[in-house]
Amino acid sequence: MIKREHWGTRIGLILAVAGNAIGLGNFLRFPVQAADNGGGAFMIPYMVSLLLLGIPLLWIEWALGRYGSKIGHGTAPAIFDSLWKSKIAKYVGVLGILLPLTVVVYYTYIESWTLIYSFFSLIAKLPSTPLTGDVSDYLKPFKEFLATIIGANSSHPLFYDVPWYTYLFFVITLLLNLYILYRGISGGIEKVARIAMPLIFIMAIILMIRVFTLTSPDGRNVLDGLGFLWNPDFSALTNPKVWLAAAGQVFFTLSVGFGAILTYASYLRPKDDIALNGLAGASVNEFAEVILGASIGIVASVIFFGVEATMQIAHEGAFNLGFMALPAIFANIPLGMFFGFLWFLLLFFAGITSSIALAQPAIAFLEDEFGLNRKKAVLILGIYLFLAAQIPIFIKGALDEMDFWAGTFGIVIFALLEAVVFFWIHDSEKAWKELTRDNDINIPSIFYYIMKYIAPGILIIILAAWSVEMLPAKLTQNSINVWIARGLILITGLVAIILVKKAWEKRRTING
Ligand code: PHE
Repeated sequence: MIKREHWGTRIGLILAVAGNAIGLGNFLRFPVQAADNGGGAFMIPYMVSLLLLGIPLLWIEWALGRYGSKIGHGTAPAIFDSLWKSKIAKYVGVLGILLPLTVVVYYTYIESWTLIYSFFSLIAKLPSTPLTGDVSDYLKPFKEFLATIIGANSSHPLFYDVPWYTYLFFVITLLLNLYILYRGISGGIEKVARIAMPLIFIMAIILMIRVFTLTSPDGRNVLDGLGFLWNPDFSALTNPKVWLAAAGQVFFTLSVGFGAILTYASYLRPKDDIALNGLAGASVNEFAEVILGASIGIVASVIFFGVEATMQIAHEGAFNLGFMALPAIFANIPLGMFFGFLWFLLLFFAGITSSIALAQPAIAFLEDEFGLNRKKAVLILGIYLFLAAQIPIFIKGALDEMDFWAGTFGIVIFALLEAVVFFWIHDSEKAWKELTRDNDINIPSIFYYIMKYIAPGILIIILAAWSVEMLPAKLTQNSINVWIARGLILITGLVAIILVKKAWEKRRTING
């Protein structure tokens, strides 16, 4: 067996893990989810989900990863196989590679838009528009700008008409990702996190302070923005849609249920702490989400456009707040070009420290199960990502489809599997022992019950609600477009299953 890599230092590890969690989800997805689900009405389900699902499942994933470091494997097929004595365990574990691999394909593409936008801000080529008329009037140039960047104006039913520079920026972004991955865990990922994380916080705090000192011509200020988010609204607590959105956001932002935390944790040493590391990473992520992420996107939009318009902007599309409303605001304040540049560069840094985390499980799989060296593993991954990315880049609607199956639905299923395999199939006493050994803080024993009963129970309810609410509508969509996206996921999954089969056959011959 090839010697596995390790994190260099504890602070480096925590920064890398925070970099994993803090991403486009914090700065783009959270504000849109919160605003679309009523602001103050969203935050209670969000906090409850964080405590009852997010943190316990995060610890489970850390524990599975640390267990992996003990047995020399950093992905779910081998870890599930070791905990669950069944032939199918390793195939079920394939989800822990397939999900991050699917997400990273479109995530890297969105990340490349942020690079395009920061470049265009810098050379003052973003649209500028006076804030007259109503919201749809002043967002219009920005809507058109995004449509141009991604080629959405094409009249073809299947293909976007992607401009060459978008393609170029994507290739640059992909190559940057691959280069970091090629440099390895401590030499690449950890090093980048040490630089990027402080920068992310500095940029976000500058932007937050700027937003907090904004006032609108009709007299709205920061208090209106904060009030929208932080005045609890209990009326929406009975709305299952809000709960599903909140739980989904908690998963996405903590990176839980993808298999990516598990892989990062597998580069711990077998006796390293997971309880404090996991909690520290989550805390930093939540600060970046509900303080920084919310304060920039939502507060700015409420000040300039008001609550109603902000909710409408968020409702119209996942990118409308970050790629349209904010640049429209920046275009109307002094030094707006600079703040726009800062905003998109912040997104880019947050994005890249996440996309490398999404890519690492596939690399770990190739290294651990096939003994490939890092160079070969990164090369294979690079070819796959480049080819696969053509689908969200060129096929209309493919990105959303991939995001639904992998980034929304799949992660809840995989998180449930992690909890069930560990606590129910393996053994809850042993699982708890594994979770609570060698830690720097104690995990309160109430979490035993949360991990064993409450979290899996809620996950089953969520899946049932989704199956009723969204699956029927999803499954009746049958355009070629969505089937191309589904085809990509299915074929990738199939290839992964075949690879797992091959790896285990090889193991058997080695072990005699
Ligand atoms: N948590 C990241 C975000 O908020 C997304 C992500 C998920 C990154 C899984 C890595 C692994 O954007």
